[in-house]
Amino acid sequence: MRRALVAGNWKMNKTIEEARTLAREVAEGVAGDGLSQADVLLGPPYLALAAVVEAVSGSAVGVAGQNCSHQADGAYTGEVSVSMLRDAGATHVILGHSERRELMGEGDGLVARKSKAASAGGLTPIICLGEPFTTRRAGTTLARIAHQVEHSIQGAFGSPPPGGFIVAYEPVWAIGTGLTATPEQAQETHAFIRERLEAIFGLECAQETRILYGGSVKPDNAADLFAQPDIDGGLIGGASLNSADFLEIIRAAQMDSAST
Ligand code: 13P
Repeated sequence: MRRALVAGNWKMNKTIEEARTLAREVAEGVAGDGLSQADVLLGPPYLALAAVVEAVSGSAVGVAGQNCSHQADGAYTGEVSVSMLRDAGATHVILGHSERRELMGEGDGLVARKSKAASAGGLTPIICLGEPFTTRRAGTTLARIAHQVEHSIQGAFGSPPPGGFIVAYEPVWAIGTGLTATPEQAQETHAFIRERLEAIFGLECAQETRILYGGSVKPDNAADLFAQPDIDGGLIGGASLNSADFLEIIRAAQMDSAST
């Protein structure tokens, strides 16, 4: 059975002090409520990473970067390397997020290079895939996802890492638009991602890979989404910015883990 994972992506939110407070609240909530059935990660902005790592130290909560460079070091103004993230205490990094693909023009090739660099440098990548509204409307979602699996994941890895990958499916059209994917729509795409991973990397990798849903998970839809067989947790944006909502989502993931 796959262990549920709930990752908060704070995006460009929170000062260092606000981040420290939120991280403490989450770590205390996870410990206080005995939420040990699901893995939990927080994804603060770079400047708050060290404060968040310190705030969660000694707890079961881990920390992820929101992006990294594929270069090791050198003249890359504004970039942050894998070793810098590790040095700050991160264990994971979110790569190919829909906002980086849409707003910063990151393509599959770059996502693959970053994933490869992260993995080689000891950070676990959370590789994001997803289609925009035009693709969904044109009915070509699965073709687009298949292309992303091939070029963002297969392009980076000749063989799968032990324990499989962490992938996040983000239907771009359901992020901050008021539109939502139904649990069945999300499940269909998750199952398809798993099927493609099986075709490329084999059954064991497909069964071990955790596929997170990243399309506006909220406390009131989390349980229905996590009940789907191929949804192994969530990459949470807005609802990870306050501890009460985020803890409720972790609770939903934990209950799903306990029941399967
Ligand atoms: P929201 O949960 O705010 O829709 O964001 C989703 C997302 O982009 C997660 O990375």
